[in-house]
Amino acid sequence: MFFRSADRSWLQLTIQAIARLVDSDLFYELRSFKDYPRYSMTQPVSITVSSTTDSPTILQKAASLSARLNLPLSPSIEEAPSGYILCYNDRGLQLLYSCASLPRVNCLLYVDFIGGKNGYRLAKNCTIKQPLSRAVGVKSGFRPTVFDATAGLGTDSFVMASLGCQVTMCERSPFLGVLLEDGLQRAWENRKTTKIVSEHLRLIIQDSRDFLLADHTVFHTIYLDPMFPHRKQSALNKQTLRSIRLLVGDDLDGDSLLEVALKRAANRVVVKRPAAAPYLGALPPNHSVTMKNSRFDVYLTNV
Ligand SMILES: C[S@@+](CC[C@H](N)C(=O)[O-])C[C@H]1O[C@@H](n2cnc3c(N)ncnc32)[C@H](O)[C@@H]1O
Repeated sequence: MFFRSADRSWLQLTIQAIARLVDSDLFYELRSFKDYPRYSMTQPVSITVSSTTDSPTILQKAASLSARLNLPLSPSIEEAPSGYILCYNDRGLQLLYSCASLPRVNCLLYVDFIGGKNGYRLAKNCTIKQPLSRAVGVKSGFRPTVFDATAGLGTDSFVMASLGCQVTMCERSPFLGVLLEDGLQRAWENRKTTKIVSEHLRLIIQDSRDFLLADHTVFHTIYLDPMFPHRKQSALNKQTLRSIRLLVGDDLDGDSLLEVALKRAANRVVVKRPAAAPYLGALPPNHSVTMKNSRFDVYLTNV
């Protein structure tokens, strides 16, 4: 397992982002993204780093995270301003939401590969006959290497890794990236999941297009699951998807990701879409694996 961060340069900030700096409310947004120039959020939010325990190790982790993401550090969640809080507690790192009009602080996002309904138990019960396995090209005696270009909370990656695929997961949101890192670390420390994490998963925090254009590793399959506006079903529940969408927007640049993926996948590109959604980039696939609420569009690249 290794972590790699994005290319760093203020110069690469988009003209649009620079124009938005004129509005000083967005200052933290841009400051926190200065290391992630190709990443942009759809709306301004305040994000603070904090912790709920006074263990010196945890306090040190919170301080390092605040410095790494260039976000303000709050000594406690009670003292943090309204908005998002990346918070270390005894379960690990969580994204919380706190607002004066809400009775309590809500946990929006938490990566849990061990328990939870998307964790180890679900992954353990996956078989090679399931739609995701068939779509990515898992066969008896063959496990493709997979580049998951839209890692999100890593649910699909973890299932593919549990099936025995070598999975490189790539996520461009630095916030989801650090939540994924934390989830992977806890899974690596757990007896049930350590083998899957150490032998089958690696994480890259970068825009997948940049990675695929610069790196020459050969992947059999490139897997895409970009956010889809008003999407009803996915591996993630509605509250989780809503929280991710607030942070990352609607991935309206999915077409260009597909274009790069088609040039780089050795065998196939798989795109997950809601059942009734148009094809990504209006490009018809070679075939689709359909389910009740969604489908996998499969583009063969070795024909
Ligand atoms: C619907 S979520 C994916 C959910 C994921 N399949 C799971 O199982 O958790 C889409 C994610 O893709 C990420 N994403 C979209 N385009 C990307 C790109 N070009 N590079 C890296 N990540 C990208 C978004 O930031 C978002 O977190």
